Amino acid sequence: MKNTVNFIKEKTNDFQPEIGIILGSGLGELADEYCDYAIPYNEIPNFVKSTVQGHKGRLVFADISGKKVMMMQGRNHFYEGHTMQEITYPVKVMKALGIKTLILTNAAGAVNESFKPADLMIITDHINFMGSNPLIGINDETFGERFPDMSNIYKKNLIDIAKKCANDLKVDLTEGIYWANSGPSYETPAEINMIRKLGGDAVGMSTVPEAIVANYCGIDVLGISCITNAASSSTGAKLSHKEVIEAAANAKTKFKSLILEILKKL
Ligand code: HPA
Repeated sequence: MKNTVNFIKEKTNDFQPEIGIILGSGLGELADEYCDYAIPYNEIPNFVKSTVQGHKGRLVFADISGKKVMMMQGRNHFYEGHTMQEITYPVKVMKALGIKTLILTNAAGAVNESFKPADLMIITDHINFMGSNPLIGINDETFGERFPDMSNIYKKNLIDIAKKCANDLKVDLTEGIYWANSGPSYETPAEINMIRKLGGDAVGMSTVPEAIVANYCGIDVLGISCITNAASSSTGAKLSHKEVIEAAANAKTKFKSLILEILKKL
């Protein structure tokens, strides 16, 4: 950890970020526009490389709306074969660099039938169905406790700020529960029916490991899903990664303006 943190501090002229943002599939443009320092993951000690198309794979540091922000342009996923500990290592690095608030974003399939592609959904809570947990293993008490409480991950004050910003910008914002599967296969119609019955509104393959680790080490989390598709249904419509990336691209302008507005108000 010391290695990683010292390397980043050196490369960024001791930039001291206060807010972290993890940019999901197709949502990375913010880090192209605002970039004071950028470090590719494959240069950073102890980081794993991102292998998914649509994900750039670099840390970007920038002053945005008067805030010092550290962005992950692209994230690592469990389905790439990395361990839960590997994919959440950057969140611990963020903690060590002093981050207090983390905005997690992702592309997700709609389970709630009132959602449509390009909708933005505030995550109010999550269901971890990935079959693992990033806190498995020896616990480092300097980050958090062995059995951390998870009853209040997605902070109400952050949700209220996001809603107010969306309202000011006249951007529609829905809210709901994010269900995480490991992937990489998309869900079957039967699985989507199950998720709906069990309370999921949107489904994806990320975010939950990072949210668990952030909450464990005392970082406040705001989660925003970009709904990219109707999750698999009995209509038999076929779903592709291309469709997911294209739908995220359609939402990226409003997504970006919402994030910029939220940064102003934080
Ligand atoms: N399922 C799982 N993950 C996803 C989906 C989906 O329908 N869309 C985008 N990420």
